[in-house]
Amino acid sequence: MKFKPLILGIESSCDDTSAAVIQGREILSNVTANQDIHQQYGGVVPELASRAHQQNIVPVVDAALKKAKIFPNQLHAIAFTSGPGLMGSLLVGTSFAKSMALGLNVPLIEVNHMQAHILAHFIEKTGMENPPFPFLCLTVSGGHTQIVKVNNYFDYELMGQTLDDAAGEAFDKAAKIMDLPYPGGPLIDRYAQEGDPSIFEFAKPEMEGYDYSFSGLKTSILYFLQKKVAGDKDFIKNNLRDLCASIQSTIIHILMEKLEKAARDLQINHIAIAGGVSANSLLRSELRTRERSLGWKTYIPDFEFCTDNGAMIAISGYYHYVDHNFSNLAVKAEARKFIV
Ligand code: KG4
Ligand code: ZN
Repeated sequence: MKFKPLILGIESSCDDTSAAVIQGREILSNVTANQDIHQQYGGVVPELASRAHQQNIVPVVDAALKKAKIFPNQLHAIAFTSGPGLMGSLLVGTSFAKSMALGLNVPLIEVNHMQAHILAHFIEKTGMENPPFPFLCLTVSGGHTQIVKVNNYFDYELMGQTLDDAAGEAFDKAAKIMDLPYPGGPLIDRYAQEGDPSIFEFAKPEMEGYDYSFSGLKTSILYFLQKKVAGDKDFIKNNLRDLCASIQSTIIHILMEKLEKAARDLQINHIAIAGGVSANSLLRSELRTRERSLGWKTYIPDFEFCTDNGAMIAISGYYHYVDHNFSNLAVKAEARKFIV
């Protein structure tokens, strides 16, 4: 039987501390500690995130190993997120991974967080189909919005990206304006299920090529609601479901328009989504709809592999391991790191 390395993947780029053990391409465990502390601040507070990672990392890694029924000395490599992300958060995972690799005398593998969101599609799991190359991946998270042409595991072309806010940020900022707690994306999704998306209309940007912009939408929501609340202080409460449905539909419409354009121009019909916003129910259904209307074949990872998770770092570690692409102990965390 083909050798299947056991690799520990550690993710700590933002506000989730996560660790996973992979054997070959099969996930044995994927354990995540979320940080509730940020809810009251309406967004991630970097210093608090870093401190929470320090508290969480040992128990999370320990739980991932125990769940996988693996002893640390059975591991063949340690993979970790080196960027992009919040520097204080990245440093916790980076230092921990270095110490562990050094202590166990196994290779250390640095992983690019944005590549990892894409490589999550290659986890071997029943019911999850792996896309063939080339495919287009819309990577939508709280920090990034990109359309990437994926030619191979580590061969990418960045077709377009947001020039200001990320799609997840647009959800979170709209939620904050409506006094909903952070992260607002899942809540907007939930309220939107009972709302009418055609009730309110918000600004859609006119952008060149495949790039995105979401800051105008945020301003349009803010000014609209300020005016409405001045006349009726309960306006948001009384219209929450329709507001959420209208905001969600605007964001998803913006995302889909450019994705469709890229797919058409490049004549690629294998389309994947990745990142936290790919958990959005409307984005998922809009994608599925295009299987029938445009002949797309779509790839949507399981929910636990969409938001930040150790499994996507572990699968990226696997492909680097196969290529013998190891890092030395001088490797540094990088807050700004690009996909290509
Ligand atoms: O990938 P992720 O976990 O972390 C980053 O790398 O940013 O993405 C988090 C983002 C947040 O902005 C959150 O509001 C958004 O994903 N999100 C959603 C949904 N679930 C998570 N946005 C819309 N609808 C959802 N169901
Ligand atoms: Zn992410």
